[in-house]
Amino acid sequence: MSNDLENEVLEIKKYPDPVLRKKSEAVEVFDEELEKFVKDLFAAMHVHDGVGLAAPQVGVLKKIAVVEYEGKSYVLINPKIIEQKGTQLSEEGCLSFPGIYANVLRPEWVKIEAQNEKGELQTLEAEGFTARAFLHEMDHLNGKVFIDYLSNLKRNAIKKKISKNTGGHF
Ligand code: NI
Repeated sequence: MSNDLENEVLEIKKYPDPVLRKKSEAVEVFDEELEKFVKDLFAAMHVHDGVGLAAPQVGVLKKIAVVEYEGKSYVLINPKIIEQKGTQLSEEGCLSFPGIYANVLRPEWVKIEAQNEKGELQTLEAEGFTARAFLHEMDHLNGKVFIDYLSNLKRNAIKKKISKNTGGHF
């Protein structure tokens, strides 16, 4: 494989790509390949100005996601929610839904457990926007996307808008 190929930015799958609806499998092997993949996820997220990216969004059905917000980077491998509190309503977008934003209700605070790329188990507490990003990315690992939280009316309006943009896939 040439260096050019290895350094290619991962392609982001756009809704309604069926991979976005599949459930990811737990990561069991923590090796160099995984570390490289995590770096590639961060790189793709940076190229597209995202604050988070999950493996299914690049077509890899593994429980791996990255988040970066206010200068802090988080690697979430096999993440689980331990506790959540409160609610927040705020605008959300997704790299798999370019140009689409909608208000989504989420818990205000979460405590999660996740492994990092070395396999070390960490407990992370987050509130506000960071909590929202963790939960949004964790949803991707379960085949869930942010428009699932909207009313049928709003969701259908978004689907219609996307179908116009892509030439009508549904
Ligand atoms: Ni997303």
